[in-house]
Amino acid sequence: MIKPLKKAVLPVAGLGTRFLPATKAMPKEMLPVVDKPLIQYAIDEAREAGIEEFCLVTGRGKDSLIDYFDIAYELEATLRERGKKSALEALAPSSVQAGSLVAVRQQEPLGLGHAIWCARSFIGDDPFAILLPDDIVKGRSCIGQLVETYNKTGGNVVAVTEVPPEHTNRYGILDVGSDDGKLVEVKGLVEKPAPEEAPSNLSIIGRYVLTPDVMKYLAKLERGAGNEVQLTDAMAKTIGEVPFHGLRYEGTRYDCGDKAGFLEAQIAFSIDREDLGDSVKAFLKKYKQYVDAP
Ligand code: UTP
Repeated sequence: MIKPLKKAVLPVAGLGTRFLPATKAMPKEMLPVVDKPLIQYAIDEAREAGIEEFCLVTGRGKDSLIDYFDIAYELEATLRERGKKSALEALAPSSVQAGSLVAVRQQEPLGLGHAIWCARSFIGDDPFAILLPDDIVKGRSCIGQLVETYNKTGGNVVAVTEVPPEHTNRYGILDVGSDDGKLVEVKGLVEKPAPEEAPSNLSIIGRYVLTPDVMKYLAKLERGAGNEVQLTDAMAKTIGEVPFHGLRYEGTRYDCGDKAGFLEAQIAFSIDREDLGDSVKAFLKKYKQYVDAP
């Protein structure tokens, strides 16, 4: 029987070095795309998939992420007093049901695999989703699409996309079995392979649905690429033990852990908004000369 998926783990303990100095005193996951912090996009996407239990894996200097989901009594009272209805409405998605969001501490950023292992008490014996908040996907809930697949196939399901072959050394890469153009059977996984050693150019993005089988391998805390405990290595060990699929999701992913991806997301998430679209189009025209310059 396929156990229903109700839990999501959101690892937010990374150092965010690519965004220094902005992330010196502020978590990367609180950086806004237009007017919403990255973490809110991940929570909204998970909620759209019917997930209502969240675990943030935090680290030093990340307390503002917890505060973000608290009730801001003074702010709300002031807004109410001043009749600022739309500002109050904007706060609504950041409220969570009491007891539905927990946080665990990853004392040292020893890698994504280690971060997930830190959530072991929350996960228990249940299937769980992982959303890396620095990846945001525009379109229908990406994790929702994985959950739909999981409900049919069971086992592990990861979101995958083709990357330029010369970039395989930045991602977890799939060794592909059968492939119907949308759903692929995962035969193997390699973390950050050199282009000449990569089994394909199909990479995992920051969305996963996993069964708890992966936890026994994470518990070994074996170090992999970059001397970090790699989630990819532990997932690879479950191949053959549980069904394992990659889903070419619908939607566009923006890698907001990277400066260029973060900037592109600002445009993508504002250009079709009623309140901002015209201004964004007007200012983009101003930069056309730079685009056209030889
Ligand atoms: P990244 O690989 O983007 O690392 O982590 P990072 O530290 O956040 O950023 P850079 O590379 O230094 O700029 C991907 C996700 O995994 C989490 C991060 O918070 C991010 O959501 N993570 C990573 C942890 O929670 N713990 C870790 O030890 C490593």
